[in-house]
Amino acid sequence: MKIGVLISGRGSNLKSLIDACAAPGFPAEMVLVISNKADAGGLQFARDAGIPTRVVSHRDYDSREAFDRVMDEALREAGVDFVCSAGFMRILSDEFVEKWRDRQLNIHPSLLPSFKGLNVYARAIEAGCKISGCTVHFVRAAMDEGPIVAQTAVPVLEGDTPETLAARILEAEHKLYPHALRLVAEGRVTIVDERCVIEGDTTVA
Ligand code: GRF
Repeated sequence: MKIGVLISGRGSNLKSLIDACAAPGFPAEMVLVISNKADAGGLQFARDAGIPTRVVSHRDYDSREAFDRVMDEALREAGVDFVCSAGFMRILSDEFVEKWRDRQLNIHPSLLPSFKGLNVYARAIEAGCKISGCTVHFVRAAMDEGPIVAQTAVPVLEGDTPETLAARILEAEHKLYPHALRLVAEGRVTIVDERCVIEGDTTVA
């Protein structure tokens, strides 16, 4: 499976996917990384790994649709058949989401459907949650919604700050995203009534 990754920033999840794809026998190959920001730190991870990169700045386009169409073209030109969003901070147009329906994953730092959107760590702490975590899901038009492929729970500890909780969740994200991508790339995930049915062992390595 040829994947393209969409990023906007630091790119630590991108790095975990690059490392996973480089491992022998991993069922996906990364052929393109697109960032909407030229200064996204993650672009360097791709360059270091010899993966082609493209910067498509949303500021260069009048509409979300026009911006998304350029990304879509770049993905198709690169032969991408599956998209992974990894800290991509733009809302995607319905048109783009439909074009890549069931062929696009996203990672979110909460146990969805709780805490969609932003400021998830502070919100989980404020709500007094005792666990939080991360979710990899298929992308749908509504933000942070879509069939859940995999989740990892982590504890929320006394005295946690948004930063300490974020760091604990991020560590889990770096294992979860490659795991979820592997499940999908191995053809073990079927979407039935907007829920993922997964074949075989789903333990996160
Ligand atoms: C991650 O926490 C991810 O779940 C969220 O944005 C953050 C991106 O971090 N969508 P990075 O750019 O992958 O380091």
